[in-house]
Amino acid sequence: MLRTHTCGELSKANDGQEVMLSGWVNRRRDHGGLIFIDLRDRYGVTQIVIDPSDTPAAHKVAESVRSEYVIKIKGNVRMRPEGMINKDLLSGTIEVAVVDLEILSESETPPFEIDVEKEVGEETRLQYRYMDLRRERMQKNIRVRYEVIKEIRNFMDKDQFLEIETPILVKGTPEGSREYMVPSRIYAGKFYVLPQSPQQLKQLLMVSGFDRYFQIARCFRDEDQRGDRQPEFTQLDMEMSFVDEEDVMDVNERLMLHLVKMFRPDVKIQHEPFPRLTWDEAMNNYGSDKPDLRFELMLEDVTDIFTETEFNVFKTASTTEGMAIKALRVPGGSKFSRKDIDEFTEIAKIYHAKGLAYVIKEGDEYRSPIWKFFTEVEQKALLDKVKMADGDIVFFGADKYEVACTALGQVRLAVAKKLDMIEDNVYAFCWVTDFPMFEEDEVFGFQAAHHPFTSPQLSDVALLDEDPAKVKARAYDFVLNGNEVGGGSIRIHNQHLQAKIFKTLGISDEDAQKRFGHMLNAFKFGAPPHGGIAWGLDRLVMLFCDEPNIREVIAFPKDSRAKDLMLGAPSELPKAQVEEMHIKTVENKV
Ligand code: AMO
Ligand code: AMP
Repeated sequence: MLRTHTCGELSKANDGQEVMLSGWVNRRRDHGGLIFIDLRDRYGVTQIVIDPSDTPAAHKVAESVRSEYVIKIKGNVRMRPEGMINKDLLSGTIEVAVVDLEILSESETPPFEIDVEKEVGEETRLQYRYMDLRRERMQKNIRVRYEVIKEIRNFMDKDQFLEIETPILVKGTPEGSREYMVPSRIYAGKFYVLPQSPQQLKQLLMVSGFDRYFQIARCFRDEDQRGDRQPEFTQLDMEMSFVDEEDVMDVNERLMLHLVKMFRPDVKIQHEPFPRLTWDEAMNNYGSDKPDLRFELMLEDVTDIFTETEFNVFKTASTTEGMAIKALRVPGGSKFSRKDIDEFTEIAKIYHAKGLAYVIKEGDEYRSPIWKFFTEVEQKALLDKVKMADGDIVFFGADKYEVACTALGQVRLAVAKKLDMIEDNVYAFCWVTDFPMFEEDEVFGFQAAHHPFTSPQLSDVALLDEDPAKVKARAYDFVLNGNEVGGGSIRIHNQHLQAKIFKTLGISDEDAQKRFGHMLNAFKFGAPPHGGIAWGLDRLVMLFCDEPNIREVIAFPKDSRAKDLMLGAPSELPKAQVEEMHIKTVENKV
């Protein structure tokens, strides 16, 4: 036996007991003779004391002990002297007087301090991830992650869901993002791919009659990295049969409320039941399909006011099909400096806006680069529409509809941050529904906005031939404070409708058979109506832990360039191993 207790459990109840502890040296302090060591493990920190007059042998060993050594001690629990008590720790009232001390493992000087929360470069943290994970913050995050998953499993179990594993080696049928490929050794020139999500398999499980499925599922996407994306990440994936949107949302709201109550009892949920916005409403009013509802600022549409204007940019936007002029009124925004406005303009430009016109009202004065171009009628119409008051600024975006909305939507977020309008400790959930079914790509034509198995709104089926751009999907996203935590849809369960969607997507019958034959065939044998959703579990845990990116809640994440800095992956492999896979490599350029 190497320990009788952990370093987090001794308290005054153990006063007088002989104990054995093992752990890491968090910190060692020499007090002229007496040596104090804070001994740490997963459960906490316990102070141990080595007195040279009582235990000269142990004291000698303790003198050589350094931070992060692993040691084992035997000793007696005793109360700390008055004045040495640490009320923040359970073990803060006691200490262990050492009788015997043994070094189990030495440590080189750690690459960074474990016992204090200091900024450490991300590269160093990821390279020494096993050390980084020793830190209190990471220990807590990984634990919360485990607890969240455990709670999800309990909840789903009670709600009649079965957890079913789906394979990791699957067939390449791109659903959206690029897939990771795994070459087959046995079948030259053929590949498995790693699943972007269990989407098709979970639908096939519905055809199999499993009715309510879920999985804590690992997904793989070879896409550009961002703070809230990883090449491999974890979903809470679920699918249900004989359901409509209401049924799926109901389970999800109940589960989410349960988790928030457990893990963030301190936060206020802004609205219950969670508000629902159509995609059109979200874009029109917030300039985003994942609106942050924690603050009020809303966009206005002022397109119709400027059909005759002298300001050409507005005139074009006002009179061209598919273009719009959006306005964002910010109360108190007249105090923004030139530099602030330039910063907002840069943000708008990242989202493809060509500029960020504005009007500031100060008393009877209007400060603006464009006000002078407007007639009195236009000025009045604008003021009536946006209800401008003294001290306000109004920003404008004039562009293709989605660009105008999105750019101003991003300015909306930046402005709210700048003006400190976002309340802490509030969770604003919402559902965004009625997404467009397709996105039009200049090169590839119509693409599925969600994935090709999403059902169109039944009232829009006729539009599939006439005007696919207008077709809305039975898709919904689950949004929390401006983060997309989940997305799903009611699926197509009819082979003819599925074939029609493939056709709209420009996938020939032959190609559809080749890529999705398993789905089309399965739908010939009695497919129940079904639908589901997947949550980005990393994102949810990140929000629960108040962390700025998902790497903080993943034990061994990739860096922002998809590398594992600790393992050194990706890496080269022995030539023979590569050749066995029928692969020839070309000169490595990276
Ligand atoms: P979708 O692609 O919207 O839907 O993914 C669902 C949720 O997964 C999270 N997510 C990610 N998290 C981290 N890193 C990534 N690279 C990443 N990509 C996505 C997001 C997102 O909301 N099969 C469908 C779901 C369904 O229709 O049931 C799917 O995968 O939080
Ligand atoms: P310009 O006529 O290009 O000097 O622009 C006058 C003002 O209009 C500047 O403040 C620009 O930032 C702004 N602006 C230009 N194009 C757009 C646009 N498409 N949408 C909104 N503002 C714009």
